[in-house]
Amino acid sequence: MKAQRTLPPSAAPIDWRDLIQGLVGLVRPQTTIRQREAEFREYFGVKHVWFVSSGKAALSLILQALHGLSGRQKVVVPGYTCFSVPSAVVRAQLSVALCDVDPLSFDFDFDQLTQMTDSTVLCVLATHLLGIGVDVPRIVKLCGQRGIFVVEDVAQAFGGDREGRPFGTMGDVAFLSFGRGKNITCGSGGAIFSNDDRIGEAITREYAQLPEESVLGMLKNWLEVAATQLLINPSRYWLPAGLPFLKLGETKFYTDFPVTRMDPVRAGLLRRWKERLARATASRVAHAEQVLRSLGSSPVQTIKPSGRDHSVYLRLPLLMRSKQEKEALCRVSVEQGLGVSSMYPSSVQYIAELREKLSSQDVPQSTMIAERLVTLPTHELLSARDLARICSAVQDVQRAEGVGTTCSPEVREGQRRVSERPRVS
Ligand SMILES: Cc1ncc(COP(=O)(O)O)c(C=O)c1O
Repeated sequence: MKAQRTLPPSAAPIDWRDLIQGLVGLVRPQTTIRQREAEFREYFGVKHVWFVSSGKAALSLILQALHGLSGRQKVVVPGYTCFSVPSAVVRAQLSVALCDVDPLSFDFDFDQLTQMTDSTVLCVLATHLLGIGVDVPRIVKLCGQRGIFVVEDVAQAFGGDREGRPFGTMGDVAFLSFGRGKNITCGSGGAIFSNDDRIGEAITREYAQLPEESVLGMLKNWLEVAATQLLINPSRYWLPAGLPFLKLGETKFYTDFPVTRMDPVRAGLLRRWKERLARATASRVAHAEQVLRSLGSSPVQTIKPSGRDHSVYLRLPLLMRSKQEKEALCRVSVEQGLGVSSMYPSSVQYIAELREKLSSQDVPQSTMIAERLVTLPTHELLSARDLARICSAVQDVQRAEGVGTTCSPEVREGQRRVSERPRVS
């Protein structure tokens, strides 16, 4: 553990005014929740909004409601996504169906999606990973003809839009996450929103059965938010970053997560969400654009977002040329406190708890992304000097490694099996 300036990979600062508003929520519980609901209805231009305990709670509630409407079982999930997503699918007692991801856009492989979307599919999860927009209208067009719902996963993309339409308003129903490290945070929390009355009724029925968060749970979350605030500053972040038992940034598959209504303390912590979101998005986009310009001449693959989207770059993705090169950059980052992170350790196909069930669902591009992707921090706590140090580290590692593109046996085997799959024209 080195006491040096250390950047968190992702940070959504909250200040003492928000902490006070959290406590105000405790005194005026109903008004606080109602206000947030009204503000979100207005921002997204939707009729229905519900606040719950997390993004995965939101997703599992949505899936139960949709299953109640159509009885179908399969949920199409990107091959590379947060492990909370398959966790929520399994929690809702539905089955995960993997669709591969295009490494240049993070959007679905549309050929595969077209083949998969048959009458057994309940919904497709259109996921704006890292705040980068995907082509929801194209997914809606494909699914609409086949009675398949489109759920927008906006957990990492709150604040983005496609030609003025906020992410989350192009599918049938959407959810947000207010977890730590998301676009804005209240510790943990989630929201669901939809404009569809039939879905609205089904979710309202599910929501009515949810328990409230306990007072102890509310206060514990408030204290965690306060402690995180203190430690998230780059001058102090070396301390939590050096304590492995905190498991910071670790993603895991688990299905026994709480599904409750959002409590008024969390809703109070979100009181100034609009200004916090505007400020955070402006810095993330400016920082991402600056790094993309600096790395313009490097042999590194960055994402190519569609010109129609205002992506919000929760973090900036870079696809290194090999696993070794990625690991070298992550090592340098730990040594120098640069906040470069390797995101999810595998594609969904290779999550230990799902591996057997998903063994035939090859997603070689997603497996390759898991092996080679790094994300660079973009948040508002970065200085110009931090950005310059991060760019130099990327360039130095590429010069030193000089590694050509390589693939692991898993990726090669997946590619072979996919190429042998019968094609449906
Ligand atoms: C893409 C994506 N979907 C869903 C979730 C679940 O959100 P939460 O952590 O609030 O449960 C996350 C969380 O990291 C996520 O990144």
